[in-house]
Amino acid sequence: MDFPVALAGMPGIAGGRLAGAVAGAGGLGTIGLLPPGELQAAIGRVRDEAPGRCVAVNLLMQFARRRHVQACVDAGVDVVVLAFGGDAALVRELRDAGVFVLVMVGTEHQARAAVAWGADGLIAQGREAGGHLVGTVAALEFLPQALAVAQERPVFLAGGVATAGDTAAALAAGAAGVVAGTRFVLTEESGAHREYQRRILAAGATVETTLFGLGWPLRHRVVPNTATDRWCRADGTARRIPALVNSLSAPLARWAPENSERSVIRMQRPAIPLFSPAAPLEGMPEQWVDRAALYAGESVLRINGVVPAKQAVAELAG
Ligand SMILES: Cc1cc2nc3c(=O)[nH]c(=O)nc-3n(C[C@H](O)[C@H](O)[C@H](O)COP(=O)(O)O)c2cc1C
Repeated sequence: MDFPVALAGMPGIAGGRLAGAVAGAGGLGTIGLLPPGELQAAIGRVRDEAPGRCVAVNLLMQFARRRHVQACVDAGVDVVVLAFGGDAALVRELRDAGVFVLVMVGTEHQARAAVAWGADGLIAQGREAGGHLVGTVAALEFLPQALAVAQERPVFLAGGVATAGDTAAALAAGAAGVVAGTRFVLTEESGAHREYQRRILAAGATVETTLFGLGWPLRHRVVPNTATDRWCRADGTARRIPALVNSLSAPLARWAPENSERSVIRMQRPAIPLFSPAAPLEGMPEQWVDRAALYAGESVLRINGVVPAKQAVAELAG
């Protein structure tokens, strides 16, 4: 890496194209979870587009299966980020295969667990972040606790990073680097639907909700749309019916076939309280933008346009 700037692993959004562009620009290109075959192809694309650079993969533990881990090991990726779960056996397996393992955490308790598993470093997420949240306080507020637990291990800060000033503030506070999600959703190489990009750019607020929780009822930050207007309470939480559906669906998720959330998004309607975590991607019909999660962090209110990933890396690096 030439710059202490990492792309967040965002399923379908941070694919080989975006991760390759970020790695080529000198940042850490992290591929978000994909079906194992597509993951393998994306790793190959990053290597083709950014020869000699690190390749990182984000294992979103709620949906990652053995074949994803095997794909990372077989391809010899440099870095794996474990998010929303993990354990000592998995960290050991990856480290034994020569992989540098980062674990995303949002509380001191989670940081201690990650260090006990043997993690090489931490990502400290703040509550202002886009997407799913382990963060419970602002990233710069949580960072000192994560640094204290991590001791000599590197800690990246995630949440609210949209400018060189944000990166500088994180580094001054002791972070080894930053992880940006929302800034990279808004790049030309992003796999996000173009209308999703337009909606979040035009947004005047974000909301922390539990609405898009089918199979995974964890808090997440989105921009409001027809679905949230219809089914969220004033405080952002899902109303009674979708909350019940989400909580009943939680145990089923571990057994759901791969890619099932891609099938569920097809059936989603603003009027029906059945909302999966899948985001609207390029190639999907435009009207799905009103029935799916428009993930974005608070930094979206300070971002003014879609730029090439290389420019985003340069702007974050300062
Ligand atoms: C669209 C989207 C999808 C995300 N998916 C994941 C994921 O699969 N795994 C993960 O570790 N973090 C995920 N995140 C969270 C990011 O890792 C990161 O914590 C967050 O984007 C940082 O805040 P920012 O959006 O303000 O830059 C996602 C974020 C967004 C915006």
